[in-house]
Amino acid sequence: MTSPPDNAIVAAGGIAELGAEAAGARTSYGEGALVVCDQVVRIYTGEGIEVQALQGLDLLIGAGELIAMVGASGSGKSTLMNILAGLDTPTAGRVRVAGQDLGALSAKERLIYRRQRVGFVWQQTSRNLLPYLTAKQNVTTPLRFSGWRRRLREERAMELLDILGIAHCANRVPSRMSGGEQQRTAIATALANEPQLLLADEPTGELDSSTAQDVFAALQTANTELGATVLVVTHDPAVSHQVQRTVAIRDGRTSSETLRHDTADELGNTVRQAVEYAVLDRAGRVQLPREMTERHQMRDRVRLRSLDDHIGVWPDRPAGLDRPASPEQDGAA
Ligand SMILES: Nc1ncnc2c1ncn2[C@@H]1O[C@H](COP(=O)(O)OP(=O)(O)OP(=O)(O)O)[C@@H](O)[C@H]1O
Ligand SMILES: [Mg+2]
Repeated sequence: MTSPPDNAIVAAGGIAELGAEAAGARTSYGEGALVVCDQVVRIYTGEGIEVQALQGLDLLIGAGELIAMVGASGSGKSTLMNILAGLDTPTAGRVRVAGQDLGALSAKERLIYRRQRVGFVWQQTSRNLLPYLTAKQNVTTPLRFSGWRRRLREERAMELLDILGIAHCANRVPSRMSGGEQQRTAIATALANEPQLLLADEPTGELDSSTAQDVFAALQTANTELGATVLVVTHDPAVSHQVQRTVAIRDGRTSSETLRHDTADELGNTVRQAVEYAVLDRAGRVQLPREMTERHQMRDRVRLRSLDDHIGVWPDRPAGLDRPASPEQDGAA
């Protein structure tokens, strides 16, 4: 048998190296983040139709963040929340929460994940609480499943109800509480087992604005005082304006992020500044906001040019039509 030519050996080594590099890039994506969504796809099939609810969504959430998620109806927010809650699995892509790959959990591990690592609060108050149990009993129920002693679970329940401002509801069943009190009890219940991640899917959707504010304040308390990382889906601008980071989802992908921080004006007053960013995903994709593409009549394809400190995007128009500065003209200017 003759030995392979030298270049074949080099090629084989090169491929192995490339493979190792690719694997390295994969494992390092989102390293250190509490939540890593890596090109997550969720396709629903049924009755001959296919809905691509998530289309390669990337999202990283750091431990300790409080993030609002916004997006049009049907954009995939609840689909993502269900996956993060361990109630559903992606069709493709990977989701990691606190180092656990949600796609690789056994049935038992998934149960433990849902009971202890993550807490969730849904929009419908009736979905969150057991109607025949008092607030205190609702909060102690998950602790009983986790084997907490009676005295300790009662202490924990009262501590949570107190921190969230609903100690007065401890012995009331949900039908004797207001909608906001029910949602705050739901937050206490979701936090009972000290989950690292608290998910809330439109928790204020059924509430009036001042009650919604109380519920949002409870989520802030969960974040700042109890250390939970919080992801809250909301249509309420009053809520999304209060968080430091808002992630917008469009057509099953993260499309833009708004980051807010406080600065001081010349009189020393605190001024909140918001900056909106388009999300650049790992495949290099950016979603151009519809209002911009429509204004510049951009369709199907655009022209790009790398300039000194930015990338220019131009509409593609047939020659002879009234066209704006071309990439060439702009570069020459
Ligand atoms: N179980 C399901 N079977 C089939 N299609 C589904 C299912 N759940 C959601 N979808 C579809 O997936 C897409 C995303 O739905 P999703 O519920 O995630 O949207 P959303 O952003 O939460 O919307 P909303 O703001 O109305 O709650 C929609 O087109 C929806 O019709
Ligand atoms: Mg939804």
